[in-house]
Amino acid sequence: MTHAHITSWLIAIILFLITVSLQRSGSSKAKMVQMVLRLFYILTIITGVLLLHSIASISILYVMKALAGLWVIGAMEMVLAAMKKGKSSTVAWVQWVVALVLAIFLGLMLPLGIDLF
Ligand code: HEM
Repeated sequence: MTHAHITSWLIAIILFLITVSLQRSGSSKAKMVQMVLRLFYILTIITGVLLLHSIASISILYVMKALAGLWVIGAMEMVLAAMKKGKSSTVAWVQWVVALVLAIFLGLMLPLGIDLF
């Protein structure tokens, strides 16, 4: 399940960056790619919840990991919404970076999946 989880959030991040550049260039394809991106949000959440389900005793760190993951997804939507409205997306980008670092750090620190530490 960790492989499915990693694959889905990696694809989501790539699709997010593609949507950002398509939206910047004013391409009509941005909307379509964003729809596929939303599908990968769902896959990321489902695989994350399944990972949580496989854990016998959930500690606060798992809850923080899941919240950080949801925050990454929220920040991606905030960036795209701000860009669409022509507003500044700086605050949303800062949130995205902070949440992403936190989600990856907590994900790798916690015991399931690839052992780095
Ligand atoms: C874009 C968003 C997300 C990113 C970048 C992310 C990143 C990661 C990473 C790097 C791992 C470690 C995999 C490994 O050790 O091999 C992981 C594991 C995990 N993720 Fe996520 N994740 C995201 C979203 C979510 C969401 C939305 C949830 C829950 C609803 C979630 C729940 C989990 C759980 C429970 C684990 C297992 C923790 C462990 O290693 O013991 N993740 N995630």
